[in-house]
Amino acid sequence: MEREEQEWIESPDGWGTKEVCRANDDDGDGCIDLFGNDDPNEYFTFTIQLDSGTTKTLQLHGFKLDSEETDRSTGVTLWQAAPRLASFLQIHPEVCRGKSVLELGAGLGLCGITAHYLGAQSVMMTDGDTQTLQQMRENVRQNCDDNHISCRQLIWGSPHMENFVIQQGKYDTVVGADVIYTHDSVQPLLDTVACLLERPHGQFVLSRFSKWNNVDDEIVIDAAKQRHLTCTRPSEGIFIFQWDEIC
Ligand SMILES: C[S@@+](CC[C@H](N)C(=O)[O-])C[C@H]1O[C@@H](n2cnc3c(N)ncnc32)[C@H](O)[C@@H]1O
Repeated sequence: MEREEQEWIESPDGWGTKEVCRANDDDGDGCIDLFGNDDPNEYFTFTIQLDSGTTKTLQLHGFKLDSEETDRSTGVTLWQAAPRLASFLQIHPEVCRGKSVLELGAGLGLCGITAHYLGAQSVMMTDGDTQTLQQMRENVRQNCDDNHISCRQLIWGSPHMENFVIQQGKYDTVVGADVIYTHDSVQPLLDTVACLLERPHGQFVLSRFSKWNNVDDEIVIDAAKQRHLTCTRPSEGIFIFQWDEIC
């Protein structure tokens, strides 16, 4: 943990995903499967096509979906919205190339690291969760040897976002994958986007393929509209928010 960071675990008592797994225990005997694999570690690979015609394969270290680690800190595994956003960024490299990029709720860091290899001028990867930040930093060390990529704690909403913008400034592009999955997170997340996104040209790219806890897309789009951000949807699960013209 960096000196100025606070200890923050997203869900110290767990989300209950282990209980969901146990409830699905086929024989219901509660016994450990002797042939199962108890190792909670998981490695995720993703290949980026570079401008030069070559490729870069990332290997990210995280934890399995049904591990104790993921139950407390959702960011220590890879969610499907992240590789989908990374693929979208590859098809549209102009979103990152030459831009200052901020990732919110970056988890293992796939999208931020992809933005870096796609030619972002600088990348700031953030998350609120202490364990997740540790995992993200390990992945950056293993996959990047450049100082244009940083990892910092950013908990959404006040007062964290105001302190962050004073210290780090605003960004041309903000990205987030699977960062909206509770009703309570919608307002602080969009406050953070509105606070840290450059005007008038900045854009926020959100990847969202699952409506966890019944948080509808319309709730997110309306919350953005209240902050003068208008949404377009270039492909399934991808939302781009840009400032209204009056801004
Ligand atoms: C479902 S995970 C997605 C991680 C990664 N973007 C991915 O798609 O694999 C949600 C992430 O948002 C972070 N997060 C949740 N609430 C947060 C908050 N209030 N402030 C900062 N980060 C938060 C979690 O720590 C976690 O890393």
